[in-house]
Amino acid sequence: MDAQEKIVRAAQLLAGSRRLVVLTGAGVSKESGVPTFRDALDGLWARYDPQQLATPQAFRRNPKLVWDWYEYRRSLVRAAQPNPGHLALAELERLLPFVVIITQNVDDLHQRAGSSDIISLHGAIMRSRCFDNCRGNPTLIDLSALPRAEAHASPPHCPYCGAWVRPDVVWFGESLPEAALRRAMSLAEQADVMLVVGTSGVVQPAASLPFVAKEHGAAVIEVNPSPGGITPIADLWLDGPSGEVLPAVAAAVRALREEASEDER
Ligand code: OAD
Repeated sequence: MDAQEKIVRAAQLLAGSRRLVVLTGAGVSKESGVPTFRDALDGLWARYDPQQLATPQAFRRNPKLVWDWYEYRRSLVRAAQPNPGHLALAELERLLPFVVIITQNVDDLHQRAGSSDIISLHGAIMRSRCFDNCRGNPTLIDLSALPRAEAHASPPHCPYCGAWVRPDVVWFGESLPEAALRRAMSLAEQADVMLVVGTSGVVQPAASLPFVAKEHGAAVIEVNPSPGGITPIADLWLDGPSGEVLPAVAAAVRALREEASEDER
């Protein structure tokens, strides 16, 4: 199948889907200028050591270093805009009866692109919470409500108990938010199509979701310029950047939907 035939085939599968579940990873935000983790040259984990920056132990050891690194990543996200890949996924939600996005990304670019049903498996970098979760899990802290000097401390203190404030993201060695993971698993079981975009498919439990979907009968479509952990089970692999491939797929789905509604008239 050449690239155009694959786009048409993907659009047919999507246009026929009644429960589309999309799993996204860092690759979908790469064309917005947000770095991935494992790309060999420019991925975050090629330049930084996750054990020094993305574990609770690292934060206890050096809260300022970790907080400042997340402030740097927040600045990248603030400066970024949704790219045509995010926008195409939001359009699929308007074209198809049921679309949910499960994302491993901590940026808010799916939200800003207009997708409405998003499960954030790894948390949200723009949110902050008490390191001790002193008022229940999660004890979210609105930094803009803190006194100015405190809000700009690195890191600030929890206004309730005085513990450090940390980003509300999942670090290595931590569990995923329980309700989000439960809903993601059940959606994977019920999906008739799973669209996997821009993930290396090596971080569990997110990486198991396409396998669960496939075992329960879903067709798996992957969009990624390079093969990864999901590619062996993909029914269709569209090997290109999501900012180019997804708009082409969404346009083909739109054309199929328009044809179908003309036939009904
Ligand atoms: P990775 O950095 O592991 O993988 C990024 C994927 O995006 C790779 O498969 C690339 O080939 C692909 N990619 C690169 N450019 C792309 C483009 N323009 N369009 C589409 N795909 C492209 O990122 P994730 O799989 O998201 O966890 O990583 C999973 C988790 O590992 C992250 O959520 C993070 C990290 O440690 C936590 O922080 C808990």
